[in-house]
This record gives sequence, structure tokens and C-alpha cells, in this order.
Amino acid sequence: MIPRHVAIIMDGNGRWAKKRSLPRVFGHKQGVKTVKKIVKAADSIGIKIFTIYAFSTENWKRPQFEIDVLFSLLRQFIKKDLKELSGCGVKLRILGDLSKFPENIIKEIKAACKIMSKNTGLELNIALNYGARQELIRAFKKMAKQGIKKPTEEIVSSLLYTIGQADPDLLIRTSGEFRVSNFLLWQIAYSEIYVTDKLWPDFTQHDLKEAVAEFQRRERRFGGICDKSSTGK
Ligand code: FPP
Repeated sequence: MIPRHVAIIMDGNGRWAKKRSLPRVFGHKQGVKTVKKIVKAADSIGIKIFTIYAFSTENWKRPQFEIDVLFSLLRQFIKKDLKELSGCGVKLRILGDLSKFPENIIKEIKAACKIMSKNTGLELNIALNYGARQELIRAFKKMAKQGIKKPTEEIVSSLLYTIGQADPDLLIRTSGEFRVSNFLLWQIAYSEIYVTDKLWPDFTQHDLKEAVAEFQRRERRFGGICDKSSTGK
């Protein structure tokens, strides 16, 4: 089975650049090229929802120069790459709080979401100024405001940025780190986790297929037992 929803923590841009004695931002630049390639690859292998962690609530701690370069890469990505991806039927959703972003970027993102909302292909979620704990607090505040006294899983899910979408079946992290870094904490409750040593700029279509193949070899039990014929005795 092809995983319906794949989420990726794109890590290792800085190390990719360091290995080549280049400034860190060159790693981000190369990382954006990988984003475009991998979104297309995800679409071509039949993944329906693809979520990428582009800027976390913690990334504001980075040097201002690096943040500025990330914003400028994001603007280029919206103008050029999203246009091309939109042509392939990709639909865009942003996960996160955009209010801290520069006004011009907010406008461009909203315009892209609007144009791409008519598309019916791969759903691309880009997490921007995203933190899972912040997302949950936002949901709890909404519940309090709506006077919800008996929360259920369905209610919480319906108050997250991913409303209406299936949870990730597979979470991929590049660069060999075994952390989830405040990403989709609610939604990855039963996701299979795949960690590769590849640095994000080096991640290829083949690596994505490898991750999917590994997912297919895993046995997902969702807390149950593997032998369906077993009576449990
Ligand atoms: C981690 O690399 C990656 C990020 C901080 C964000 C990923 C951003 C991109 C791929 C570019 C922007 C994306 C879009 C969609 C325009 P790191 O800098 O933490 O690497 P390191 O751990 O090796 O230092």
C-alpha cells in the first residue's frame, strides 16, 4: 500500500553546506530545489497528502541573516515553483501561524492558496512558523471559546491545521537525527517513522521510494495484535 499521507522533517541543509565549505544558506538554496523534485516524486508515486516542515516556531532563534534568506527563498518558491506545481494539480495548505511573517509574504501565500484551491491533485502542506504544541494550545483555546466541555479525538482533530486530512502514515526525517522536533505531535500518534542519514539537499526520488518500501515492509497494528486469527487467549 502506498502511504496516503507522508510528512517530512527536512534536516541537514546546514551540514550539507558545511561539508562543501559553503555558507549555511547555500544548503537551504539546494534544499528548496530538493523540495520541488520530491513533491513531484511524491505525486508520481501516488502519495495524496505531503507535509513538509519548512520553518518551525523555534527557527526564529536563528541569525536574522539566515531567516531573511529563508524568507527570500520562500518568496522565490511561491512565485516560481508553486506556479509550476500548481500546473501539476497540486493544492496548497499552510500549517502554522503566518501573522509573524512579513506582510508581502502573507499576501503572496494567501494568493497562492487561493489559486491552488481549485486543484484536485496532491495536497501539499507547508508548515511555516509551525509548532505542534502551539497548534494544540490553539485548539484548546478554540474549545474553551466554543464551550466544549467533553473533548473527543474527532473534536481535537477538527481544530488542527490539518482538519479534514488523514493523519500521516509515514514520517520521514533526514540527516540521521532521531527527534520529532515539535512536528505534528497529535497527528503522528500512529505514524511509522523512517530516519535516513541522507542530508535533505541530497535526498532523492530513489530515497523517497526506499522510505515507502520500508513502510510497506512494516506491520502496522495500531495498538492491536498482529495475528488476526488469534483469540487473544
Ligand atoms: C533544516 O536544516 C532545515 C530547515 C531549517 C528548514 C527547511 C527549509 C528549506 C528546505 C528551505 C525552505 C523551504 C521552502 C519550502 C521554501 P538545518 O539548517 O537545520 O540543517 P543542519 O541541522 O545541518 O544545521
